[in-house]
Amino acid sequence: MLADKRILLVISGGIAAYKSLDLIRRLKERGASVRVVLTKSAEHFVTPLSAGALSGDRVYSDLFDLTGEHDIGHIKLSRDTDLIVVAPATANILAKMAAGIADDLATNILLATDKPILAAPAMNPRMWANAATRRNVAWLKDQGIATVGPNVGAMAERGETGEGRMAEPMEIVAAVEAILTPAASAGGAASGPLTRRHVLVTSGPTHEPIDPVRFLANRSSGKQGHAVAIAAARLGARVTLVSGPVTIPDPAGVTVVRVETAQQMLAAVEAALPADIAIFAAAVADWRVATAADEKIKKGPGGVPQLALVENPDILAAIGRHPTQRPKVVIGFAAETENLLANAAAKLKRKGADAIVANDVSPGTGIMGGDRNHVRFLSGDGVEDWPEGGKDAVAAMIIAKAVQLLQG
Ligand code: CTP
Repeated sequence: MLADKRILLVISGGIAAYKSLDLIRRLKERGASVRVVLTKSAEHFVTPLSAGALSGDRVYSDLFDLTGEHDIGHIKLSRDTDLIVVAPATANILAKMAAGIADDLATNILLATDKPILAAPAMNPRMWANAATRRNVAWLKDQGIATVGPNVGAMAERGETGEGRMAEPMEIVAAVEAILTPAASAGGAASGPLTRRHVLVTSGPTHEPIDPVRFLANRSSGKQGHAVAIAAARLGARVTLVSGPVTIPDPAGVTVVRVETAQQMLAAVEAALPADIAIFAAAVADWRVATAADEKIKKGPGGVPQLALVENPDILAAIGRHPTQRPKVVIGFAAETENLLANAAAKLKRKGADAIVANDVSPGTGIMGGDRNHVRFLSGDGVEDWPEGGKDAVAAMIIAKAVQLLQG
């Protein structure tokens, strides 16, 4: 609960601003008082009238309105609060915060405050992945500014998906509570049922070299594995994400270990133990070239090269049957194009897993590389057919199951 807590909510100009109206309501339901500052561009998305009606207070937007005798100045506004929440935090306002620019009321407050700040970034995935934004967010975090989200999902722009959606209002409330009432919420900006737990996740494909310029690989994008890592971090876990080569950005708040081959992935996974939960979402290449060439293989009179393959180590099986450091919960995936349930059930047994997330990756399903997934969840309790959903929603369900298995 947030009784007697004073929150200054800065709404900057992003399409997610409409969710901030719900955030005001949720914070007030918990007993907080909420004072709202709108940037000029936020007023294109929400009106001062609606924000004021929900907060029950005057809404502030103009720096030069605060000069009247009865008005409080921006310095006082920045200090008469327990926490400043910036939601949505656009790439622009994050950049201004990182650069110390103060050219409107919101940024003057952010520069002048001596109170903690929580930012809920929301922007197009390419803007989030841009090196300038990465640098700004990393620097702000270094300065102790807390962040929540962004999530992976569909964007306002037609057909665009990726990491950039603002965290849901209830996730922001949880982050606020973690900062303002740490004892009640057990600490950490994203505390939850996995606080003080270590979750290990593999993601993406592996690349198995043929020669210095060629490799064997598969179509995995890493979206599902990365979403699982994000979902675990959101519940308070310390997360190690061992990822093969992917083009999607590193999730915030997660330790990412980048690898290329299956053998490197196994070594990185073993080095990351012990873990409470391990989830193997990577599409590991089953085979590697027995002896990768040191130089680029050239065409020539010798004809077509013959590639001898050898089997890669099975990382899930190695950890599922680990003699000394098996995590309490081990979950694998089964990517199948036929006999989905029978093959998945066989993998559950063979690899010593507690559960298998089975998906049909036949051509035409769009699952490999896509943003949506339709899975069946096999465990000792039987088979559940989950509704089709975004990979972030499926990730949240997988983590919820992992928590149940951990506690069970
Ligand atoms: N896996 C692994 N290491 C491997 C192969 C697979 O850790 N060398 C894991 C995957 O991350 C996944 C599960 O095992 O969690 C099943 O992967 P999948 O490719 O479906 O199964 P395979 O064991 O490779 O079996 P097959 O290719 O015969 O279907």
